[in-house]
Amino acid sequence: MRVSEMILKGKAVTLREHSPEDLHAVHEWHGDRKVMVFLSWGAETLEESSLYLADCIRDRKKDPRDKYRLAIVGNETGRVMGSATLHWRGRGANGGDGRLGCFLARDYQGRGYAREATRLLMEFGIDTLGMHRLSATCLAGNEASERTLKSLGFVYEGTMRRHSCRDGVWIDRHFYSVLSHEWNPSEFS
Ligand SMILES: CC(C)(COP(=O)(O)OP(=O)(O)OC[C@H]1O[C@@H](n2cnc3c(N)ncnc32)[C@H](O)[C@@H]1OP(=O)(O)O)[C@@H](O)C(=O)NCCC(=O)NCCS
Repeated sequence: MRVSEMILKGKAVTLREHSPEDLHAVHEWHGDRKVMVFLSWGAETLEESSLYLADCIRDRKKDPRDKYRLAIVGNETGRVMGSATLHWRGRGANGGDGRLGCFLARDYQGRGYAREATRLLMEFGIDTLGMHRLSATCLAGNEASERTLKSLGFVYEGTMRRHSCRDGVWIDRHFYSVLSHEWNPSEFS
């Protein structure tokens, strides 16, 4: 199945395809070192965010489509607050694995938006695309990310020790997953 124009509507947020007009909103999180402190990417300049955004916009043209990097929009404000991502790996007759990610500008963190955005992508990945499992990783210390995953039924799988280097310090990486038969959307609405 190929979905080229995505829209997933939740109670507080809607996920939709990015558009060029999202640039400044994307740079709010993508260009903020504090938001990206646990990530190995991000931007120093608006130009770099613009290249990233163009790449996200191109996702929908790929056939088969393997990446869904979507804008998280507030239902009340219409503002782009961040991005939620799903990367379909090892797809095929058996469903494959969907790697999830979520990023919010500082002003919008801590209000439950990531939980709802992630839940919408989980439903889409398993129920619509037929993925066999969903996975996510985060660096040790990224409490907001781990709590979001655990609150949605993700199971801790293990740790890759001293996996990623940040500012000269090696940090453990934690792995989480949900299998399709474990996913019960009504539990998490
Ligand atoms: C990770 C992130 C997406 C979570 O989004 P959020 O909308 O702020 O999270 P929520 O408001 O849904 O909160 C989720 C849980 O984390 C907790 N939490 C939120 N911010 C926290 C913080 N700074 N420290 C510790 N816990 C925190 C909340 O209390 C909640 O816990 P609970 O379910 O036990 O009540 C967001 O913090 C973010 O964009 N971080 C920077 C980018 C990033 O690291 N992304 C993840 C990449 S692996």
